Amino acid sequence: MVQGFSSKIVEAARAYSFQDLLLLPGLSKVEPSEVNLASAASRRIGLNIPFISSPMDTVTESEMAIALARLGALGVIHRNCSAEEELDMVKRVKRSESFIIRDVVTIGPERTVGEAYEAMERNAINGLPVVDNGKIVGIITGRDVRFADPGLPVAKAMSKSPVVAREPLDPVQAVDLMREHKIEKLPIVDADGKLTGLITYKDVHSREQFKSSTRDSEGRLVVGAAVSPFDIERAKELSKHADLLVLDVAHYHNARAIASTKEMVKKIEDVDVIFGNIGTKQAALDIASAFDNVGGFRVGMGGGSVCTTTELTKAGSPTAFATAQVADAVSELGLDSKVIADGGIRGAGDIALSLALGADAVMMGYVFAGCKESPGETTSVEGRMYKLHRGMGSASAREKRMALDRYSQPTKGIPEGTEAWVPYKGEVASVVGELTAALMAAMGYAGAASLQELKETAVIALTTGGSHTRPSDMVFRFS
Ligand code: XMP
Repeated sequence: MVQGFSSKIVEAARAYSFQDLLLLPGLSKVEPSEVNLASAASRRIGLNIPFISSPMDTVTESEMAIALARLGALGVIHRNCSAEEELDMVKRVKRSESFIIRDVVTIGPERTVGEAYEAMERNAINGLPVVDNGKIVGIITGRDVRFADPGLPVAKAMSKSPVVAREPLDPVQAVDLMREHKIEKLPIVDADGKLTGLITYKDVHSREQFKSSTRDSEGRLVVGAAVSPFDIERAKELSKHADLLVLDVAHYHNARAIASTKEMVKKIEDVDVIFGNIGTKQAALDIASAFDNVGGFRVGMGGGSVCTTTELTKAGSPTAFATAQVADAVSELGLDSKVIADGGIRGAGDIALSLALGADAVMMGYVFAGCKESPGETTSVEGRMYKLHRGMGSASAREKRMALDRYSQPTKGIPEGTEAWVPYKGEVASVVGELTAALMAAMGYAGAASLQELKETAVIALTTGGSHTRPSDMVFRFS
């Protein structure tokens, strides 16, 4: 110890952020186009692209979650709304596509064509299996009802003896059958001819188009839902439909939050839970010792693009530092819990660093906020298009008073976030496409063929901030 210096400062942790770090080049044995980006969001939820959208009301509602899951990533629905609204958004994602629809809307043969029309309109569908005593007797489509008298019984307007497939279903044969008979809907029946499900060609087509989507065992898109550790009822309902619950408080390493989550995990369905946000190794160790199953950790505090927590309190843990800390705890304990780096990610370089530091996936708000699929309208500011991105602790988000328990009691009235216009970026698919291409290039430089390899072999360097400067007399040509 140098005399006269306090040990607290001399021995201070070096809480580096993305700006302080570089990924050093390594021997490369694969071309960037051959690298594999498969990873996981939690113990049981795999991802083909390691990106997760933040549960923020300017980032993730159903549309964003559907688009990301189709691409092989994941959306987490925000909670700055009523429990019913959040549940509704989750259900919309789960209903949006599935290989086999199990809760099929049907109609009886004695009902009228007018009633069939109404049922189709109400459910935004274009055909109904006609069911008598559980058994399929026909199918009635939009075309059948359009040209028939509304008072006519369905039995008179439907197509009889529809093509059906039997359980247990062979998906390839089922699709062949639809192509052979040029039908858009294929009812599934059991050995007694009772209707057990329905396949639509629209869903088959989407599966073919999006081959690496994130899906559950029924072929439905996977979705996460943000929950408060203090709202057990909401978590219980959401766990019946969402694939993953993401604890959503600014400082999870808190005895009350942990105690309440213990009650919560007893009551919810068997889904993975992500714990966060946390910023230190100690937090991960304490959570791991308090819970049998930790689906994952959501890591980083105060580093988000619209966070003001660290300005306000000087407390925080930059995402890069926090990721390395928590990854240390996970490997020390030999856990299969996943690490999600959250906050302050600006682009593929920060993503590559996070994954190299031990993250399994990254959570992003700013990057997705300007996309077509994020909630909110586009606005023109001085001739350019923008969308709003706001912190969940910002004054305007708090006006809804739905997610106030993200923050501690004394700051409930003080904003811990701000709001900003972010440039409109178009469809999230193109944003994800650019990010994955640049991430693959970064992995090529680091010499990693997979994210596991990146995590194990990447070498990180500290930079002085001057590692990349341009001549000051250059005049940039903007296209
Ligand atoms: P980016 O940088 O991707 O960060 O926009 C998204 C993450 O920021 C966190 N978040 C907040 N943090 N005050 C905070 O201190 C806030 O108002 C706030 N809102 C969101 C959250 O972890 C999110 O995923």
